Amino acid sequence: MDRKVSELLNDQINKEFYSAYLYLDMANFYSSKGLDGFANWYEIQAKEEQDHAMLIYKYLHNNDQDVTLGAIAKPDKEFKSLMDPLTIAHAHEQYVTSLIDAIYDAAQAVKDHRTVQFLDWFIKEQGEEEMNSSSMITKMELFGDDAKALYMLNSELAGRTYSAPSLKL
Ligand code: FEO
Repeated sequence: MDRKVSELLNDQINKEFYSAYLYLDMANFYSSKGLDGFANWYEIQAKEEQDHAMLIYKYLHNNDQDVTLGAIAKPDKEFKSLMDPLTIAHAHEQYVTSLIDAIYDAAQAVKDHRTVQFLDWFIKEQGEEEMNSSSMITKMELFGDDAKALYMLNSELAGRTYSAPSLKL
């Protein structure tokens, strides 16, 4: 595998684990506010990010690449309102999309078709992640100021269940 592509994938493992940590911090915030449904949503989000990291980890190993695990940064975002995590999550997903796109570009540049195909799943996943994070903002804008509506929204989010990624390696 091309060295740059391998290094970018290796870095992405760390970025995905950071994403998991960031979302766990959001779950932590909502939990402290008594919003267990929002907390559940972000706990599951954190699990999905760990899955993303592990898929890349396995892909590198399957292709005889060495993996180096680095320190995971402290989640240092400040949440001052119930809306803050939602806007931060959306901006974060847009950033992750840009990272995946950059790896895709690097793989395409060296005609690494296998990695391009592997990343196709992530490209699609990022589309879903951005759609979800944007929809959370819209729902909070619509219902966040009304206690009863917020209670209903929290109940809806409590129903989210975890499912393993559709991509298997
Ligand atoms: Fe791993 Fe939320 O993208």
